[in-house]
Amino acid sequence: MSEQRIAVCPGSFDPITLGHEDIIRRSLRFADRVIVGVAYSATHVKQGMFEVDERVQMIRETFADEPAVEAVSFQGLLVEFAKAQGAAMIVRGLRAVSDFEYEFQMALMNRRLWEPMETVFLAPDLEHLYLSSSLVRQIASLGGDVSPFVPPPVLQRLTARFGGGASS
Ligand code: PNS
Repeated sequence: MSEQRIAVCPGSFDPITLGHEDIIRRSLRFADRVIVGVAYSATHVKQGMFEVDERVQMIRETFADEPAVEAVSFQGLLVEFAKAQGAAMIVRGLRAVSDFEYEFQMALMNRRLWEPMETVFLAPDLEHLYLSSSLVRQIASLGGDVSPFVPPPVLQRLTARFGGGASS
């Protein structure tokens, strides 16, 4: 049995932003491997901008330089996914006080569902405090420049979809 410290970093990642990338790279300071879990629901009709497989692909391309980071999709309970991955640590970024209540509730509930499950909250780089996938989607779809907010694999796709405004 390996003694590796494995962290799961879950989210919707629709799409991954530089804020997510920052949190995932920071996780490698205390985890040997980080498994980025892209959550989806086969029944829930939440329409995203990107298909789940494409979200996973963009994460893989973003971390092409980092073999300790993997990306996979999952459905169902996060604690079950984490267990299956051999991880008892969830990493989430906390941007502001407004994130806290929801994050705290999830952390406590996840631990209630599976006692060993711990959640680690990381503070993002100051530059990314205001960033969110939903703002990126909105700005890109309205022709704004999202190049300061997303990694190159995401920018390429947004530019292909919405035209040069995404990067000009
Ligand atoms: O980036 P998001 O959309 O805020 O991520 C939310 C996510 C995916 C972490 C959360 O919805 C989740 O854990 N979904 C899996 C289903 C689950 O386990 N729900 C109970 C959480 S206490």
